[in-house]
Amino acid sequence: MILNNKNNLHPPDIRGVIFDMDGVLTDTVEFHYQTWQKLADEEGIPFDREANEALRGLSRRDSLMRILGDRQLPQATIEEMLERKNHYFLEYVEKMTSADLLPGVASLLDELRRSQMKVGIASASKNVQAVIFRLGIRDRIDTITNVYNVKNPKPAPDVFLHAAEQLNLKSSECVVVEDAEAGVEAALAAGMWVLGLGPVERVGAAHIVLPSLEGVKWTDILAKLPRVEEEKTMV
Ligand code: BG6
Ligand code: MG
Repeated sequence: MILNNKNNLHPPDIRGVIFDMDGVLTDTVEFHYQTWQKLADEEGIPFDREANEALRGLSRRDSLMRILGDRQLPQATIEEMLERKNHYFLEYVEKMTSADLLPGVASLLDELRRSQMKVGIASASKNVQAVIFRLGIRDRIDTITNVYNVKNPKPAPDVFLHAAEQLNLKSSECVVVEDAEAGVEAALAAGMWVLGLGPVERVGAAHIVLPSLEGVKWTDILAKLPRVEEEKTMV
C-alpha cells in the first residue's frame, strides 16, 4: 500500500547551500560595472549602470555581446576586448581582502559549518578561484565550480547541478543564494530551493526574497522555506 500523507507538511531536508559569488559574497558587481564602463568608453559604445544591471549573472562573453548589440566585429577584436576588460577587473581583484566580504556572509558561513551544512560556490566567473582566495574564505567552502566546467551557462541549470554533484547532494537538498535573475532561473531549473537577494523585480521568482545577507541567520532561512509534503511511503 502507498501512503501519501497530504496533510503532513514539513520543512525540506536541506543538507547544503550553494552560493553564487558576484553580488552575493562580495560586491564585485561594482568592479564589473567600472571595468565594462571603461571598455565601453574606450570603444565609444554607450553604456551605463542601468545597462550593467542586465549583465548580472551572465558570462563575460555573453555580457560583451549584450554591450555590443548588433555591432559586428572580427573575432580577434572581440577576444582582445574580453582580455582587456578582464585585465582591468583583475586590477581590482588584486586589491581585494576579507574586508570585501558583504555584510552577513562571514557569520553565515560560520553558522553553516556549525550546522554541518555542505557549502558550494557556483559562479559564472572565470575568476572565481582568485576572488575566493582574496576573500580568505576558501577553508569554509567544500567545492567551487564555474560555468566553464559545464556545457551551458546560467540561466541553464548546469552549474548548480554540477556543484550539487560535487557535494554529493540531491537538488531538493540544496538552497541556492543568488542575486541575478538569470541565476534564480538557473537554480529553479535545477530543482533547488532559492534565496534571492535584491529587489523583487530582479529576484522575485525565488522562494525567499531578502534585501541582502546582513543580519541573516541560517535558522531564519530554514524557517522561511515552504513546507513540503511527506514523501510517499510504501508500507
Ligand atoms: C558573474 C557576474 O558572476 O560573472 C557577471 O555576475 C560577470 O557580471 C560574470 O560578467 C563573468 O565574470 P568573469 O570574472 O569571468 O569576467
Ligand atoms: Mg551574482
